[in-house]
This record gives sequence, C-alpha cells and structure tokens, in this order.
Amino acid sequence: MAVPVAEATDGSFAVMARLPKLPLPGTRRKPEWPPNGDNGAGDGKGNGQVSLKDQAMEAQAGIVGWVDERTGASGFLRGFLYRKVPKGTNWFYTLGSATMFAFLSQAITGVFLAMYYEPSASGAYDSVQHITNDVFLGNLVRGMHRWGATVMVVLVFLHMGRTFFFGAYKYPRELNWVIGVVLLVLTMLMAFSGYLLPFDQRSFWATVVGVNLNSTGPLVGPYLADFLRAGPEFGATTLSRFYAIHMLLVPGLIAAMIGAHIYLVTKLGTTAPPWLKAQLKEPTEKERV
Ligand code: HEM
Repeated sequence: MAVPVAEATDGSFAVMARLPKLPLPGTRRKPEWPPNGDNGAGDGKGNGQVSLKDQAMEAQAGIVGWVDERTGASGFLRGFLYRKVPKGTNWFYTLGSATMFAFLSQAITGVFLAMYYEPSASGAYDSVQHITNDVFLGNLVRGMHRWGATVMVVLVFLHMGRTFFFGAYKYPRELNWVIGVVLLVLTMLMAFSGYLLPFDQRSFWATVVGVNLNSTGPLVGPYLADFLRAGPEFGATTLSRFYAIHMLLVPGLIAAMIGAHIYLVTKLGTTAPPWLKAQLKEPTEKERV
C-alpha cells in the first residue's frame, strides 16, 4: 500500500500521520456538517437505520474510547508509530526490530519449554529428551528456541554493524549506543547460559571451558567464574544458577533495556544514511527580508 509522504524543511520525510480508518471514539470524531440526523451511526442519508456492521463498529469505538480516556494511549501510540523517518531509510533499518522480534520469539518458546524442563542435575537431560520425543510439538518449539538463539546473536551483530557504519553512535545517540552494548553483552550471556541447560556431554564440557575462560579475566575474572559455578567447582547448584540467570535475570534486564533503547529511538529519531548530504533549510519569507 502506498503511504503518502511529505518532505519537511530539514530534508526528512514524514509519513503523513493519516491513521487507518479505524472507528474513532465519539470524542475524537469530527462533527458532521450538515448534520444527517442519525448521529453518524445510520446510513448517512438521515433515515436513522443502523446496520449490524455500524453497530459493531460503534461497539469497538466505545471500547477504544473507554481505554483511551483512561490511559491517553492514543497520543502515545500516534507519537510512537507515526513519526518522521529520514530520507533514504532502507531495509538495514529493520535489523533492530528483527532482533526485537527474535527476542520475543525466544521469550514465548522459552515459556513453553520451561513448562516441561527440570532444572536438576539428575533430571535435566531426561526432561529435554522428553520435550524432544514425547511432548506435542516439543521438537518444533525446542528447535525454534535453539535456532532462534543463533538468529538473535547474528541479528544483534548485524544491527550493531548498521548503527556503527551509519554513524548512529554519534551525538546525540551515545547513550543509546551504550545501552546497545549492554544489550549485546546480555544477548551473549543468554546464549552462554542457555547452552548448559540440555545437560548433555557437549553442553556440559563447553560450559566448563567457557567458565574457565572467564576465570582468567583480569581482576573480576575469578569472582565471575565462582559466581557462575555457584562455588569453586562445578556442582549440583551450578545448573540451577545457570537456569535462574537464563530464565529470570537476563531476560528481565533485556526487556528493561529494550524499553529504554526504543524510548530513545522514538525520542531522537533514526540517523539518516551517511551518503545523504544534509540539506540546508530553505529560508522563510520572514528570514529573507
Ligand atoms: C537485543 C538487542 C537490540 C534490540 C532489540 C535493538 C532494537 C533497536 C531498534 C528497534 C532500533 C530502531 C530501528 C533500527 O535502527 O534498526 C534500534 C536503534 C539503535 N540501536 Fe539497537 N537494538 C539492540 C542492540 C543494539 C546494539 C548491540 C547496539 C550497539 C552497540 C545498538 C545500537 C543502536 C543505536 C545507536 C540505534 C539508533 C539508530 C539510529 O539512530 O539510526 N542496538 N535498536
């Protein structure tokens, strides 16, 4: 569908904030002139007949209006969804949203996996086998979660590359870049902590290697490794620790950080591609005089 755009004086393009033809609540509707005598709910010819479709639309508008009056959500949504985008915005700008949807998919599939997973050294392996072989669509959901993890890691790097090469880390977006770096670390931590959970030979020994690598880091390294292992050696509580980090700590932090990240994107707008030169603003009539 073609969306009308208008060029602003600063060279950016605005998608005309024409809201889709959704039913608007009474308080937001333009008064009809000349009035047709049926409060706009009839057939528009003044004969007052209200079709079933119109009644359904009215009911929807009533609910939307009720929620809007109490939350003021429509103003927020309009600012959030209908905002200026720079000229030259292209497919590379979708990588951030793609990363966000990968995270959402991980969260949803993770909830279903958690319904059957047992985070204990004696039960973890068997519960994963049970999910894969017996649970209805278990193999599909597990596969989505497994592949989704890789997809999210790849996407987050591509998105970071896009923001770097487009110079989006510069003023005034430095803070959003820093939040992005935190998101990158958290995404890697998600992948690392999830790898132990199937508790097979490969995941166990890969995690031993990973934690040992951590322990060689300067200053905080040994403390970090002790924290991850829940002690000086791999023990019965290591798996619970990884599970809590993977299930609760990191996803919570990622969700909060994504909120801050998107808030800043909507507040500051996105950066124009670097190959577009800044256009000087046309002087207004008043400025010319
Ligand atoms: C879970 C990880 C992440 C999610 C869900 C996410 C999401 C987003 C979204 C939706 C946008 C707006 C659309 C776009 O420009 O693609 C954005 C913009 C941005 N992101 Fe991320 N992001 C993540 C990680 C990162 C990382 C790792 C960095 C850099 C270290 C980063 C830096 C930025 C910057 C600087 C912008 C502003 C772009 C501009 O002004 O053009 N983000 N992010």
